[in-house]
Order: sequence, then structure tokens, then C-alpha cells
Amino acid sequence: MAIEQVILTWIHLIAATIWVGGSIFIGIVFSPLLKTITTSMEERIQIMIKVGRRFNKIAVPSLIILMITGLYNSHLLLSKPDLLMATSYGVFLTVKVILVIALVITYAVHVRIIRKEVENKIMSKQMPIKQIQKLRKKIIILGEITVVLSVTILFFAALLDVGV
Ligand code: HEM
Repeated sequence: MAIEQVILTWIHLIAATIWVGGSIFIGIVFSPLLKTITTSMEERIQIMIKVGRRFNKIAVPSLIILMITGLYNSHLLLSKPDLLMATSYGVFLTVKVILVIALVITYAVHVRIIRKEVENKIMSKQMPIKQIQKLRKKIIILGEITVVLSVTILFFAALLDVGV
């Protein structure tokens, strides 16, 4: 067993832990807790934006590291399309990569909804509540899709690991 391989998998696992663990923490622990802290939807979204921005500082690098280490781990197989489709391992890897692409797109849209000008409007209380509600719905749905995709990617990682 090559030590480089172990370290590569270790980094891949740390990044996956930060990405998936962090998103699940926000969705299952922090978000429901926020509802008990303030009844004002505007205040809640303001806090959530701050938490999201902070989380992004480690979440985005983690996602990038996951892609780099994952692609490095599998570039030999990924560069041989005929071999890729000949084994279940290759098919699972292909599905995993497609799910990762879907994840990146979903997350990018999720973050893009709260771009700087939108954030400034919300923070300075210049956005009508109706508009905030509409934005919030979209953000929540995309956030949920992000978590579901991440957990599904973990399932494909398990399939790859077992080598069925
Ligand atoms: C382009 C993106 C990615 C590629 C190409 C990739 C590729 C791989 C490969 C080749 C393995 C080794 C599987 C094996 O044979 O045992 C692996 C393992 C794993 N991946 Fe990824 N991955 C990517 C993204 C992700 C993401 C986004 C997550 C988390 C949501 C993730 C989580 C894991 C986990 C937990 C393992 C298990 C480690 C193991 O037991 O080997 N990966 N990945």
C-alpha cells in the first residue's frame, strides 16, 4: 500500500467530512435552532447569510479539494472510456462524477441567489418581505438538493469502496 495513496484518500475523506458534515449541521441543527431564537424572518435570513458566508470559506475549498483528489485518484480509469463502461466500478465512478457536476451547479445557483447586491439589500432592510420570502424558498430548496446530492455521492463512494 503506497503512503501517497493513503494520504490522498485521507485528504479526500477530511474534505468530504467538512462538506457533508457542515451542510447537515446547518440544515438539521442550526436552521431549526434559529427559529427558536427569533420570530423575525428577516433577522433569521440575515443570520443565515452570515453563517453561510462563513461556512463557504471552508466548504468551497473542501469541494474543490474533493474534486482534485477524486479526479487524481481516478484519472487513469476516467481517461479510458471503453474500460470505464466495462466494469460496474467504472459505471459507478461515472455516475459519481455526474452527481458531483450536478452538485456544483446546484450549489453555485444556491450561492448566486444571495449575491452581494441582494445581501446588501437584505442587510440594510431595503428588501420587501414578500421578495425575501420568495428568495428564501428558492434558497431552501436548492440547499436541500445540495444535501441530498452530497449524501447520494457518499452512497456511490461506498459502492466504489466495496467494489461490487
Ligand atoms: C469529481 C469528484 C470526485 C471524484 C472523481 C471522486 C473519486 C473517488 C474515488 C476514485 C474514490 C475511491 C473509491 C475506491 O475505490 O475506494 C473516492 C472515495 C470517496 N469519495 Fe470521492 N470523488 C469525488 C468527489 C467526492 C465528493 C463530492 C464526496 C463527498 C460528498 C466524496 C466522498 C468520498 C468518500 C467518503 C470516499 C470513500 C473513501 C474510500 O473508502 O475509498 N467524493 N472518491
